[in-house]
Amino acid sequence: MDTTFWRERWQNKDIGFHQPDIHELLQKHWPQLGLAAGSQVFVPLCGKSLDMVWLAGEGHRVIGAELSEIAIDDFFAERGLEPAVREVGNFIVKSADAYELWCGDIFELPPDAVSGVAGVYDRAALVAFPADLQTRYAAKLKQLVPAGAPVLLITLDYDAKRMTGPPFAVPRDQVDRLFADSYAVTELECRDALDLNPRFRQRGLTALDEHALLLRRR
Ligand SMILES: C[S@@+](CC[C@H](N)C(=O)[O-])C[C@H]1O[C@@H](n2cnc3c(N)ncnc32)[C@H](O)[C@@H]1O
Repeated sequence: MDTTFWRERWQNKDIGFHQPDIHELLQKHWPQLGLAAGSQVFVPLCGKSLDMVWLAGEGHRVIGAELSEIAIDDFFAERGLEPAVREVGNFIVKSADAYELWCGDIFELPPDAVSGVAGVYDRAALVAFPADLQTRYAAKLKQLVPAGAPVLLITLDYDAKRMTGPPFAVPRDQVDRLFADSYAVTELECRDALDLNPRFRQRGLTALDEHALLLRRR
C-alpha cells in the first residue's frame, strides 16, 4: 500500500471511513487521559475528522498529520476557516483557530511538530496500515510522541479471511506486540461494531469488534 492509494481515495471522494458524527468512544473515554484544557493533542492520519472539532471544543490545540491536501483543505473550508500556510521540509502546514494540520507522509514528520503534545488520538490510523506498516507506524509514534503523553487508540478486529483491508484487522495481541515494550496497554471497551458499519457486512464480515485502548508510557 503506497501513498498514491490514499491520495486517490480522496481525489475520488471514496472516503467511507469519514464519519458524519463525533466518535462515541472518543467522547466516552477521552476524559480518562486526564489532559489539561489548553494542552496540545496529536491526531495522526487525521483526514478531515470531526473528532478534531470535538477535541478543540474540549480546549485542546489539535496537531494533525495527513497525506491528502484535499482532506485538509476540506476540513478548513467546512469550518469556514482560512488557514495560514507555511512549508516545513516536505510538509505543507496549514493552521487556523485551534488546528495545525501537517500535510505529508507521517513517516517523514519531524519530531519538532509534536514535541509539545500531551496526548494522542488514533482512530482509523493504525488500522489503515497493513501489518508491516503497522510495525513501522508504531515505531514512528514511539519516536515522535513525548514520553508522558498517553494514547487513546481505537482499533478494529475481524476475521481477516473474510475481508481485505483497509481497515486492517488488529487483534488485541498485535497491539501488545506493537506497543507493550514501551506502553502499558489497558482495554477500556470492546464493542460489536458491525451494525454501526454496514458497509463491512457488504464486504463479507459477519462480526466486527471495535476496541478502545489506553496506552500509557511505562
Ligand atoms: C482510514 S482514514 C482515517 C482518517 C481519520 N482518522 C478519520 O477517523 O476519519 C486514513 C487516513 O490516513 C491518511 N494517510 C494514509 N497514509 C498516510 C501517511 N503515510 N501519512 C499521513 N497520512 C496518511 C489517508 O489519506 C486517510 O485520510
